Amino acid sequence: MLDSTLDFIKVGFLQTHPSFGKKTANVEEAIRLSRQVETDLLILPELFNTGYNFLDRKEVSMLSEEIPGGPTTTRLLDESKRRRMTFVAGLVERSEDCLYNSAVVASRGELMGVYRKVHLFSREKILFNPGRDGFKVYDLNSFKLGVIICFDWIFPEAARVLALNGAEVIAHPSNLVLQGFAQKAMLARAVENRVYTVTANRVGVEKRGGRRLRYTGKSQIVSPEMKILASATAREVVAKSYNIDLRMARDKYITPHNDLFQDRRTKLYSGILSQL
Ligand code: ACM
Repeated sequence: MLDSTLDFIKVGFLQTHPSFGKKTANVEEAIRLSRQVETDLLILPELFNTGYNFLDRKEVSMLSEEIPGGPTTTRLLDESKRRRMTFVAGLVERSEDCLYNSAVVASRGELMGVYRKVHLFSREKILFNPGRDGFKVYDLNSFKLGVIICFDWIFPEAARVLALNGAEVIAHPSNLVLQGFAQKAMLARAVENRVYTVTANRVGVEKRGGRRLRYTGKSQIVSPEMKILASATAREVVAKSYNIDLRMARDKYITPHNDLFQDRRTKLYSGILSQL
């Protein structure tokens, strides 16, 4: 059982290969696969229940759900309660007239929050509304969790804001298509903030409406010292976890003379960066 004194927790990713539009089957398959690992926190990919390569906004709308109340969130909440653990999982959220590329944090039967993707990638700009609520840190008793989604990786501000607000672990549900960039960049996001990062990517090819997308897999758990603690190949469907030492993320000293956050020279950074 997690409590505020714990220094070690198990974190993991599930790398999936969803069938486009087959929501119930995708959710049940993800739940089945997730049972292969025992972990306190499991990250599922972006849009894990629907697939990613939507034809148009109408199709996004048809596959969307309200949060809470929708079947995917309800199923994740039930499973998280039964297993006394936390899921972070991506799905299309419908809220009034808006459609968001969102991720839920479902922890031991409780919806801790929803992150709506801020930095939309490519055609997502015509399919979704951009998130406007920013980046939140969730206190899960024994550790602090932040969430970014996929393309957010290329904006270091996202992970920085989360780390400055206390995140020790950053969940990164993804459907990555640019070959290999993000997996490398996430090593930098981890070391520059001294946090653990967990990227859960998907695999396979989606060819719809003349558009073909190949997803890059290679999900990974990265330490604050840039070590890849667990990873998947580019093609496998797999769940992996790793026992992480949270003390490493809480200690921001790089040398006895260098505290990562205290040493920032915010007055010397121009424009908006000076506020970070
Ligand atoms: C992406 O943001 N899904 C590439």
